[in-house]
Amino acid sequence: MALQVFRSTLDMHKACEQLHMSRKRIGLVPTMGYLHAGHVSLFRYARAHADIAAATIFVNPAQFGPNEDFKRYPRDFEHDCSLAEEAGVDIVFAPADEEMYAPGYASYVEVEHVSKIFEGAFRPTHFRGVTTIVAKLFNIVRPQTAVFGQKDAQQVFLLKKMALDLNFNIEILVVPIVRETDGLAMSSRNVYLSNTERQQALVLSQALFQAQKRVQEGERRCGVILDEMKNIVLSGRPAQIDYIACVDPATFEILENALKPQILFLLAVRFGPTRLIDNILISL
Ligand code: PAJ
Repeated sequence: MALQVFRSTLDMHKACEQLHMSRKRIGLVPTMGYLHAGHVSLFRYARAHADIAAATIFVNPAQFGPNEDFKRYPRDFEHDCSLAEEAGVDIVFAPADEEMYAPGYASYVEVEHVSKIFEGAFRPTHFRGVTTIVAKLFNIVRPQTAVFGQKDAQQVFLLKKMALDLNFNIEILVVPIVRETDGLAMSSRNVYLSNTERQQALVLSQALFQAQKRVQEGERRCGVILDEMKNIVLSGRPAQIDYIACVDPATFEILENALKPQILFLLAVRFGPTRLIDNILISL
């Protein structure tokens, strides 16, 4: 099937309803475009776990703060469509801003508590924008499964919580982080980095891999590991460390000791004006 592109909500909704009537299972992959190999791995995953892979490409204004990069967020729709098609995507939904947020738009979905910490502490309205747009996309598409990346670990936690709390009855699948060969987590925002910053940013994955190694060696004191991580990150001369933390991925509670079945180290660090996030999930 050739790639179908929809711009209007009504057309997308109708196409999806027809697929439901013919008992096709839809796997949805929401994105903001400027696609890279991380997105592609989500598309392939959706393709493997559903009959139809639907991707959305929408730079969601509601999840950007007033001083953030909404206007200059990178966009390349033609290239995105060819990457999506190559990865087996059947349908792309790429609405205009007014299609998603008509004048007078007033309804938002918010997951309390965890949306206010870590990323939420630095980007106060960010997760409200994310959960709102994903809830809207879930309603338009009504997918059986939706695929998200572990790259945005807190986003995954909140979207799973939203799906559960609001009875979406959609299976949320999570795909591991795709990294460049030198360890940098792929991100549409990596294009903002200068060559020097790009090199400096390698300390992020180095710090996370060190944490993994220390846990595997038997270190259970998170404070000790976090200190080591901080030293590694500082060696890259970042502009600012927003946070480096160790949490239980099941609750997002801060851990003092790595004694849960899974532990998550996560960080947000700025190099020049660019803010990068990364994490590592460790199973004990
Ligand atoms: P975006 O940053 O475009 O990411 C879309 C999806 O790709 C997210 O689920 C994200 O976690 C995943 N992803 C990004 N980089 C990845 C990598 N290196 N490895 C694996 N997966 C990766 O996240 C968003 O858009 C938006 O918040 C969205 C959910 C679309 C709502 O607007």
